[in-house]
Amino acid sequence: MRKPVIAGNWKMYKTPKESLAFLEAFLPMVEGHDRDEIGLFPTMSSLGYVLDRIEHTNVFAGAQTMHWMNEGPYTGQTSPTMLASIRCTHVLLGHSERRIYAHETDDMVNWKLKAAIAHDLTPIVCVGETLDKRQTGLTEAVLRWQIACALNGVEPEGTGKMIIAYEPVWAIGTGSTATPTQVEEAHKIIRREVGERIGHERAAETRIIYGGSVKPENTAMLMAQPDIDGALVGGASLAPETFAGIVKYQLPG
Ligand code: PGA
Repeated sequence: MRKPVIAGNWKMYKTPKESLAFLEAFLPMVEGHDRDEIGLFPTMSSLGYVLDRIEHTNVFAGAQTMHWMNEGPYTGQTSPTMLASIRCTHVLLGHSERRIYAHETDDMVNWKLKAAIAHDLTPIVCVGETLDKRQTGLTEAVLRWQIACALNGVEPEGTGKMIIAYEPVWAIGTGSTATPTQVEEAHKIIRREVGERIGHERAAETRIIYGGSVKPENTAMLMAQPDIDGALVGGASLAPETFAGIVKYQLPG
């Protein structure tokens, strides 16, 4: 019912030329793969090239962030209408690196989510606790708060495409992946809170994916959990062989 999504977040890596070279190698490796949705989030200067190259393939591409307004005097920003105009279909919202380095607030994530829905973009809303919050027993409080804020005033009817990414900050780029049990627990909390906000039926259909040091070696273990519906992959999505290895995880048994 919930088709898994495996997406690569390229962060600030890869020029257009490097992005296209990746695709030349990667697309044949995943050709015909239909079990999972496969996505890539290149940096803004490569996004248009990637979108052109993946047309009529089984790979989607999206932006790593966007503004919530359609246009205006906002230097450095890209709007939802601009993304839609280049046939961009997906957008990451509230990634922890945006929250930390670009000072994105929960309110901004909420405005962006509403804008993504209004423009028929598929939003991937990122949430996750820091190490300090986990160690002080505040994981559930943080996750519920971030979800509640993101979904504040969002009409349930618009959330059909929405994906949530659970990305514990302490697991991102650190090599220390959360255990399948920790992720499963967090995803249950998130699904319950999404249910409180938009209804449990819709929450049961919402895909919740995990991000934080996902590698070919740990993907199957994570994907075997009933509430883990995919992966958002940073570092390990930069090399075609490695990312293809993640996409083609083999469930045990
Ligand atoms: P990582 O990044 O896989 O390098 O930990 C994940 C992410 O930030 O989405």
